[in-house]
Amino acid sequence: MPGTRLLLLLLLLLFGGGLAPGAADDDGAAAGRCTYSFTVASPGEAGCPEAGDGRELRAELAALAARLSLLESREAGAAAPAQSPRVQSARPSTPAACGDLLRAVSRLEEDKGRLEREKEELRRRLESSARELARLRAARCPPRARGSPRDALHGSGQASPWDPQTIDYQELKSARMEVPASHLLEETAPGRPDAEDSAGCGELVWVGEPVVFGQADSIAGKYGVWMKDPEPVPPFTRATTWRVDTVGTEVRQLFQYDDAEQFSKGYPAKVHILPRALESTGAVVFRGGLYFQQRRSRLLAKYDLQGEAIAVEKEIPGAGYHGQYPYSWGGYTDIDLAVDETGLWVIYSTEKAKGAIVLSKLDPETLEIQRTWETNIRKQSVANAFIICGVLYTISSYTVPNATVNFSYDTATGTSRPLSIPFENRYQYVSMVDYNPAERQLFAWDSFHMVAYPVRLARA
Ligand SMILES: *[C@@H]1O[C@H](CO)[C@@H](O)[C@H](O)[C@H]1NC(C)=O
Ligand SMILES: *[C@@H]1O[C@H](CO)[C@@H](O)[C@H](O)[C@H]1NC(C)=O
Repeated sequence: MPGTRLLLLLLLLLFGGGLAPGAADDDGAAAGRCTYSFTVASPGEAGCPEAGDGRELRAELAALAARLSLLESREAGAAAPAQSPRVQSARPSTPAACGDLLRAVSRLEEDKGRLEREKEELRRRLESSARELARLRAARCPPRARGSPRDALHGSGQASPWDPQTIDYQELKSARMEVPASHLLEETAPGRPDAEDSAGCGELVWVGEPVVFGQADSIAGKYGVWMKDPEPVPPFTRATTWRVDTVGTEVRQLFQYDDAEQFSKGYPAKVHILPRALESTGAVVFRGGLYFQQRRSRLLAKYDLQGEAIAVEKEIPGAGYHGQYPYSWGGYTDIDLAVDETGLWVIYSTEKAKGAIVLSKLDPETLEIQRTWETNIRKQSVANAFIICGVLYTISSYTVPNATVNFSYDTATGTSRPLSIPFENRYQYVSMVDYNPAERQLFAWDSFHMVAYPVRLARA
């Protein structure tokens, strides 16, 4: 009977094959679960002059660990049905139901395989970040006498390849422990910059490797824009995540996700239909509004996320649009909005500027231009641009893996200079890059992947 064979296959899949081994991810401890721990800022650390650098790295570590924790909880969720006795007795009554189940199982398996790979990758990067932190601290902080006894948690003696034996101020390790990752994340929350921290401005000196937070599964998501509001207005929070897939001519759907997990699963809490079609990947979310360029026009609009209506529209005088002055990857990226520590900006060009990047500071309430700067960087020669602390940065290529942040223009002084900060185009098609001053990360969209890059700023 086909039905019996299907059922057998199903049971095999559930208990013999793909799902269960996932739980035995590492050395097969009974708990079957890997957790991550790290300690931060021991009291002695405050004495080290360059504590700022460590803080940026810790922010990255916290972000990586958050991602890992998320993956693990999803993994646990995916594995759960396999361990549930109910599944065993729930015999599908028809072959059709059985087929559905089979398909569901194979989808779960695919998901699981993908999660496993992503987890491995994150684990690898967590370690390499930790090594970098250790190296950085060792290089910068003079060796001090080690006095303070180590926290018992960290004395388990499991030497890792980057065992920070020589440093007494920072420790990170990936090992089996009894403390769940989520708990440790709370401990490391200080690694995530708070408002006071973000106000500490500086110049960009380092961009880390991209971390994947979401993935589009249809062609509409080959390029797009994803965002978090650095100054959210209730009922939205810092966790609320927004996404627009921008392939197509009538782009009106704005996806709202309540948190990172929803976002990574790709199930929106709500889909807003914008009253006007949006063009390209220049949109930002700021103080409760989605700011975007309307299709085939130099009109900017603010869509009120709570009121679900256009609150204000304004033209950017002389701004090129719809392919006049795009970034090098094209995609009608003529008008690119940005948010930094100082507020709302728009990056564009005009005929008067002959295609050079023009920057204007905008009043977020009225969209009036407050002030404008003209640079000497040709907009079409660079792949993308973003603003940190009032400084414009450009990226050399949207496709080569070894791209660089290769230019900066400081609006405070009106001076520009060449730079050479590595920027990895991991999936080789970066269509959007925006700085998020609250997260202190670059959000980017790289060929179906929604990624974020940690950054480090040199404090003034
Ligand atoms: C930055 O990269 C772009 C694209 O490769 C190039 O045209 C531009 O000259 C570079 N700028 C500097 C300062 O190297
Ligand atoms: C990037 O890699 C290519 C090929 O390996 C090399 O030719 C090129 O010089 C590199 N570019 C930079 C900016 O390092």
